[in-house]
Amino acid sequence: MVLAPMAGITNVGFRRLCREQGGGIYVCEMITTVALVERNPKTLRMIAFGDDERPRSLQLYGTDPEITAAAVRIVVEKDLADHIDLNFGCPVPKVTRKGGGSALPWRRRLFARLVRAAVDAASPAGVPVTVKMRKGIDDDHLTYVEAGLAAQDAGVAAVALHGRTAAQRYSGTADWDAIATLKQSLDVPVLGNGDIWKADDAAANGRPHWVDGV
Ligand SMILES: Cc1cc2nc3c(=O)[nH]c(=O)nc-3n(C[C@H](O)[C@H](O)[C@H](O)COP(=O)(O)O)c2cc1C
Repeated sequence: MVLAPMAGITNVGFRRLCREQGGGIYVCEMITTVALVERNPKTLRMIAFGDDERPRSLQLYGTDPEITAAAVRIVVEKDLADHIDLNFGCPVPKVTRKGGGSALPWRRRLFARLVRAAVDAASPAGVPVTVKMRKGIDDDHLTYVEAGLAAQDAGVAAVALHGRTAAQRYSGTADWDAIATLKQSLDVPVLGNGDIWKADDAAANGRPHWVDGV
């Protein structure tokens, strides 16, 4: 079970409350790679984990492979986290218009380079890297299968798919058929994400929302 990262919400206190309910992976708030590389004091303060928090799961957001690699090197050299997730889910038009966030996988070569740069920087320390993405920009520009395969080739430990496009933002319903399609396309574990409002949504009747192998 993974608590999806939520900016402004999944801080160290919120995660502690969640961890009291049992084990799992509780991803911290998104950390911007540029801010980390620039040693922004507010960003450094956001990388806070409980003394007993394991794994320490950190989400990074970036659009540049070199800066992302530099940020990952800081994380591993300073032993700031045990797991790094890369955020390709941000649907904010201000970000996607410039080709970032959930639009980034559309730029296939950049996406592959960025993920590989993160994996290469993290793997000497044995820190697994995962990616979290959406289905694509909109229904005419779906990227999730190709991006999932590229991420797998780059060496990620798992891929999380939020079953919506960027154009949908948080509206409509999450497409769990797309999550199943991705699961069938990849060998690495696939995490399904979207429309889990309460524990029963994830756990009731067996695992209706969990794709085989997760
Ligand atoms: C307030 C808020 C902040 C979020 N921040 C992030 C974030 O920083 N990184 C990320 O990958 N997803 C972020 N998300 C998306 C969630 O991780 C998740 O993918 C989404 O909420 C799943 O859809 P659901 O709300 O239908 O369950 C955020 C969502 C919300 C509601």
